[in-house]
Amino acid sequence: MLSMKAVFAGYGGGNVLQSVDLECAEQTITCIVGPNGAGKSTVLRVISGLLRPSAGEITMDGEAIGDQAPDEILRRGITQVPQSHALFPAMSVHENVLMGGYLIRKNRTLLRERLDMVKDRVPLVASRAGDHAGNLSGGQRRMVEIARCLMLDPKLILLDEPSLGLDPRSLAGVADLIHALHQEGTTVLLVEQNVRLGLGLATHGVVMEGGKVRLTGTAAAVKDDPEIASLYLGGTKAPPLNSPPAGQGTETTSV
Ligand SMILES: Nc1ncnc2c1ncn2[C@@H]1O[C@H](COP(=O)(O)OP(=O)(O)OP(=O)(O)O)[C@@H](O)[C@H]1O
Ligand SMILES: [Mg+2]
Repeated sequence: MLSMKAVFAGYGGGNVLQSVDLECAEQTITCIVGPNGAGKSTVLRVISGLLRPSAGEITMDGEAIGDQAPDEILRRGITQVPQSHALFPAMSVHENVLMGGYLIRKNRTLLRERLDMVKDRVPLVASRAGDHAGNLSGGQRRMVEIARCLMLDPKLILLDEPSLGLDPRSLAGVADLIHALHQEGTTVLLVEQNVRLGLGLATHGVVMEGGKVRLTGTAAAVKDDPEIASLYLGGTKAPPLNSPPAGQGTETTSV
């Protein structure tokens, strides 16, 4: 469905992404993991058209989208839920969700149908319709952010750190929603710092570091990779972060 080949992109002339190859097949959940600054959000930004690649090719269903504007990419069925603060706090939940249907605003019937569909998928959109988005909890806001992007009935959803700042219960709710969307046939490309959650939800995994893809595979294979397990999943190979370097005693030093 979505394919990136040898993509370079960056900010102000320099390239952050260094020849990134990535594939999202239909009805998969792909999770990108990697340290801060690896270029994960940059990958989502080039796909959604917020950032132009300086080289390489991006295609959706076989058609090049690398030079298209964000609204054209939206029309092709790709929507992005940004990393945070995506709602208008002084507007109601209903108004925020309606903004997601901006591109179909002239087709009243379709707009109403989509709103009903979104309420089915995310009941909060109906039960809290009149409340200011700013009065919702972090978990509820995240659900509404995802609900808003469903107004265009996307084929591919790009989610940047959906678990960020959420308590375990909200996190489970968001994970259930992503799982349900996938079951209904939506393809998902996810960036997650919570590697266990992300790779647990995903069918495929991508590990990025320094603007490059270091490893790709099924989520299970990426999770089981000994290096990934030790780096991100608390495996036994890497020493704990606060352990002293080899050869030094265990005395604590005050700074
Ligand atoms: N708007 C910007 N202008 C200039 N440099 C940027 C901009 N956004 C990101 N960068 C730089 O690009 C690199 C990759 O950033 P990116 O946001 O893609 O990383 P990330 O993997 O999503 O990290 P994080 O886990 O912290 O969200 C970083 O070095 C960052 O400082
Ligand atoms: Mg990021």
